[in-house]
Amino acid sequence: MAKAININHVALVVSNLEEACEFYEKELGMEAIPAFLFDYPTAFFKINEDQQLHLTEWEDTYSFRGHLCLQVDDINTIYWRMKELGVIDVKPWGHVRQLPDGPIQMFVRDPSGNLIELSSAPDAKIDPKIFEDELFKPGIYVSGRNDFRGYKTKDATLYHKNK
Ligand SMILES: [Fe+2]
Repeated sequence: MAKAININHVALVVSNLEEACEFYEKELGMEAIPAFLFDYPTAFFKINEDQQLHLTEWEDTYSFRGHLCLQVDDINTIYWRMKELGVIDVKPWGHVRQLPDGPIQMFVRDPSGNLIELSSAPDAKIDPKIFEDELFKPGIYVSGRNDFRGYKTKDATLYHKNK
């Protein structure tokens, strides 16, 4: 059976391309790479050797809970900077957390309103002040829905390559 083998790119719709590019380049350190000669505003960014993030400016609606998760190399610096910018959003998925396999999980809104999850490697050293911060809560997010459908285990991980 044929199968999907990789995420090639994720396209985020933004309301202002220049403002969005500044956020992804300056705040998240992403590298812009050339896009095709499309007749609409768009910018491509390199995530790694296989994957790209595409930003494209259109009028659209933004998801409240749907998100893209980016692993970052320095969650401590990013955490305090995102807090300073006031873009950490605890409404869709609750507070900043540490997942059972170790990564920090936090959600921010980009300038257009796209929800971006930021994650650290499971073995990354976390600034202990984050655990004491008002935006942090221990344990996984509890929605209160009490609907346990899905494929679940207490040994789940975002980083299955390491297992
Ligand atoms: Fe997620």
